[in-house]
Amino acid sequence: MQYRVMQCISKILTIDKTLIYLKINIIARGVDMATISRENAIILWKKYNTDAGLLKHAYAVEAVMRHYAKLNNEDEDEWGVIGLLHDIDYGQFPNEHCIKVKEILEKENIPYEFIRAIQSHGYGLCTDIKPETVMEKTLYAVDELSGFIVACALVRPSKSLDDLELKSVKKKWKDTRFASGVDRTVIENGVEMLGTTLDDLIKECIIALRPATLSLGLNKIN
Ligand SMILES: [Fe+2]
Repeated sequence: MQYRVMQCISKILTIDKTLIYLKINIIARGVDMATISRENAIILWKKYNTDAGLLKHAYAVEAVMRHYAKLNNEDEDEWGVIGLLHDIDYGQFPNEHCIKVKEILEKENIPYEFIRAIQSHGYGLCTDIKPETVMEKTLYAVDELSGFIVACALVRPSKSLDDLELKSVKKKWKDTRFASGVDRTVIENGVEMLGTTLDDLIKECIIALRPATLSLGLNKIN
């Protein structure tokens, strides 16, 4: 009888240990990436935002992040979701941008790596979390640049990315009155972090944005 009781206690302890292990793992690793589809990320974004312009920006950064994930042989869906969600706190908390996002995304069980990456895109502006991984550096570099390139396309007669070339973007880049809200220094810092050139980053961003043309409110001419 005593042996059976001991066996029972031992089984309970084993189950308890397994549960504790699983719990620690879930806390440490966050929710499995597979549970956050693009569709769910958009639903999540809309839960906290209503601004159509900000949504277009989210789609633009998503498109560029997907493109760079592909170039780096990384997970396109993961990088894309991070691009989509990167400004999720901006609509409601513009003065706590990149800070409030931690609370929002933790509440939504978004993995730690996603939250860190998103917070690091405000490095030197609203956070002191430095971009460390290639994904984080890419987000930091392309955030403002994607908006700048869309602005360049919008002022063209075609309102399209299809006939937008590097030289047009560079011309606008030098014109400090054009898209004056875009901090060129941040983009240049990102270029340095990535060890690339501004020209290459612009060229890749144009290519990356083209598949998202319609969701960005631009025209397709090719
Ligand atoms: Fe952004």
